Amino acid sequence: MNVISTIAQLREVVLHAKKQQQTIGLVPTMGYLHDGHLTLAANARQENELVVMSIFVNPTQFGPNEDFESYPRDLARDTKLAQSAGVDIIFAPSVEEMYPHDGGIRIRAGRQAELLCGASRPGHFDGVLQVVAKLFHLVQPDRAYFGQKDAQQVAIIQTMVRDYNFPVELRIVPVVREEDGLAKSSRNIYLSPLDRSQAPAIQQALQLAKRELQETQDVKKALALATKLIEKNTDGKIDYLAILAYPDLTEVTPETEQILLAAAVYIGTTRLIDNVIFSLKGEIAHV
Ligand code: PAJ
Repeated sequence: MNVISTIAQLREVVLHAKKQQQTIGLVPTMGYLHDGHLTLAANARQENELVVMSIFVNPTQFGPNEDFESYPRDLARDTKLAQSAGVDIIFAPSVEEMYPHDGGIRIRAGRQAELLCGASRPGHFDGVLQVVAKLFHLVQPDRAYFGQKDAQQVAIIQTMVRDYNFPVELRIVPVVREEDGLAKSSRNIYLSPLDRSQAPAIQQALQLAKRELQETQDVKKALALATKLIEKNTDGKIDYLAILAYPDLTEVTPETEQILLAAAVYIGTTRLIDNVIFSLKGEIAHV
């Protein structure tokens, strides 16, 4: 496995792969890898001849009071883990390498970014689209791998790819969880032991709301039950708890095929997100 940090090196790798007619799978990450990231990499390994993982804590998707500076970073550890998952190339550029100029041109996410995480993190998804668009241009992947853990991110990237004709197939991987249901996240290391013991309540609340929706189709009641469970079992503060049609992120109607039940909760000072996506017919739907 090779670890590279410049765009010139990356272009060489991509050119070589294209000459050999190799398929390329891209796994974009911000590093501090866990089983969620590694599952994306393992899927990429199965489906492509060359697997490129980017590791870049992208400053343009963090707000001024967010955790860009303190976001966990450990390239040596990530390198070992990525290698074990079968990654061929790690692209780990500096901020200066990715953003040497600022000509002021921006990609702006649309209506799907106005609610959920977009409401509490203004500009976040614009930054995500900026870096993802750059990575797509640089790596020219046949397939790119994203986690359903960030369901809104997936929905918005899908829209960019569709509306701007990026020649890439998006592959979406289900949420990878701890044994007690907590979604794996690089930010879980911020949790104190007490926080950690309370955090699984988020997934429990989502499951409770899902069952209620399947039985009664009552959105309000489902949300109320989930809110109550989180309030009872955690000291956390709910940022949002929402039930929306997926991937449009509009209100649920009787015609809605896929339902997104999503939550963001501050457990201690750590903001955790989680979701479930399903159809009212009872099966878990695929995004
Ligand atoms: P990051 O949070 O590092 O996540 C990288 C990828 O791993 C994302 O597609 C995310 O959805 C996926 N992922 C994270 N936790 C997961 C879990 N528990 N199960 C399944 N997949 C999981 O998301 C980002 O980085 C950035 O916004 C990025 C797309 C790299 C752009 O900077």
